[in-house]
Amino acid sequence: MRIYSDEELNNYTEEELKNFKIKHDIPDLEELEKGPWPSFVSDAKQGALHRRKLADDRMLIDRDVIEDMLGQLQVSFDDGETHWKHGGIVGVFGYGGGVIGRYSDLPEKYPSIAHFHTVRVNQPASKFYNSDFLRTVCDMWEYRGSGMMNLHGSTGDLVLLGTTTEQLEPIFFELTHELGQDIGGSGSNLRTPSCCIGKARCEFACYDTQDLCYELTQYYQDELHRPAFPYKFKFKFDGCPNGCVASIARSDMSFIGTWRDDIRIDQDAVKGYIAGDFIPNAGAHAGRDWGKFDLQKEVLDLCPSKCMKYEDGVLTIDNAECVRCMHCINTMPRALKPGTDTGVSILLGAKAPILEGAQMATLIVPFMKAEAPYDNIKEFIEKVWEFWMEEGKNRERLGELMQRFGLPKFLEIMELPPAPHMVKTPRENPYVLWKEEDVPGGWTRDIKEYRTRHKR
Ligand code: HEM
Ligand code: HEM
Ligand code: SF4
Ligand code: SF4
Repeated sequence: MRIYSDEELNNYTEEELKNFKIKHDIPDLEELEKGPWPSFVSDAKQGALHRRKLADDRMLIDRDVIEDMLGQLQVSFDDGETHWKHGGIVGVFGYGGGVIGRYSDLPEKYPSIAHFHTVRVNQPASKFYNSDFLRTVCDMWEYRGSGMMNLHGSTGDLVLLGTTTEQLEPIFFELTHELGQDIGGSGSNLRTPSCCIGKARCEFACYDTQDLCYELTQYYQDELHRPAFPYKFKFKFDGCPNGCVASIARSDMSFIGTWRDDIRIDQDAVKGYIAGDFIPNAGAHAGRDWGKFDLQKEVLDLCPSKCMKYEDGVLTIDNAECVRCMHCINTMPRALKPGTDTGVSILLGAKAPILEGAQMATLIVPFMKAEAPYDNIKEFIEKVWEFWMEEGKNRERLGELMQRFGLPKFLEIMELPPAPHMVKTPRENPYVLWKEEDVPGGWTRDIKEYRTRHKR
């Protein structure tokens, strides 16, 4: 479903762009056109010029939307303040989230951005696209929105920036009917899950991050589109502990690939690294002279468990002591590979500071197999949700609920046996709660019985 012809898409010359002035004065923003980094101001101006030259009936929201956005942004530079009104509640029928409503607080001055809503479009796993899909989304968005986008939002969505309320349902209709494409999450619900590139292009991936991300996105569509939770909830999927999608910091439920057998060692390739045939870290430090590769210094001495040895030309790893930190594999990717008995660790509770302080996720399930159709993982997710949906206070993230209940109680509810893996160190204070059934004699005692042995 294309809307514009090539002529309409390439409707201005370099010369016109050079001489183009938007209708507002934006001196501070124009400073940001200088320097080597791609300038969002220059990009926005191209969009503005393109809209100037489109025919009147070729766009459904105001022609000036980009120019007014830049104008208001300049005012915010002058005032050091935002000029968006508080909040905004808009959406599409059937769904309770996916669109972030927004209104200018200078609508007389910048009428084209009086409405400036954001639509979250659920990105494909790992953000692999073909140009046909992107061109179609762009045409639709040029026609019904501002043409400005964020590729991508921090959660993962393809973000369409700026349209009016009237356009929301038509946009949704075209996304679903023409592009087979749904919107993403917002509000107190499951947000759009996202994953690292995983097995698509990475030799370290311990499970198919894209498949698990896609499967759970589809399976929990209802939880994503219709908020039913005490607060937001995010899934992220890292294929290994390198954490390329930062699941441990930015998802309430973090899936991190790992293995439980031995690291695979190719001894010839190890020798190749020592001989200088292969560049350490695949050349990541090539920009500076760090000297000849030194296996002892760069790998063995840096292993956090000190569980590696190189003797008589043979590298050995005491895998029982290895914490699967990835360092040796990252340094010598041609020689070392994760094991073959792979799965995920599941960590819970990451969140930003508000209210009770920032949290990274804490290890709850040390190892679980991750194979389609992932029934074991779904069962675990639902157990966590059941507890949090029932016990979570209004706007209490899972991480805060876990703190309020305490890890021992949480594990009991999850029916998981406590394991040493779950703590970094044992507690240092002695305020330990015991369960009555674990204490001989229980809690019901008679003071008179005590007095028979101890005088007042
Ligand atoms: C003749 C024997 C004892 C004497 C003279 C004695 C003396 C003291 C003194 C002077 C304090 C400091 C109180 C304060 O500054 O608030 C104290 C605190 C304490 N004593 Fe004793 N004590 C005796 C026996 C015991 C025994 C047998 C126990 C344990 C079974 C015990 C456990 C404690 C505890 C837990 C504290 C409080 C520590 C704290 O809160 O930081 N004491 N004792
Ligand atoms: C069945 C017997 C006991 C019960 C039910 C009991 C209960 C408690 C409770 C509820 C607290 C307050 C904890 C808190 O919220 O911070 C406390 C504090 C304390 N108890 Fe006991 N206690 C008992 C026996 C003892 C004995 C025998 C000692 C000393 C030998 C003792 C020493 C202390 C001390 C020193 C504190 C203050 C801890 C602090 O906050 O620094 N208690 N106890
Ligand atoms: S998290 Fe691991 S598996 Fe995923 S892309 Fe990064 S290095 Fe590869
Ligand atoms: S993965 Fe980390 S802990 Fe394990 S052997 Fe390699 S460097 Fe050591």
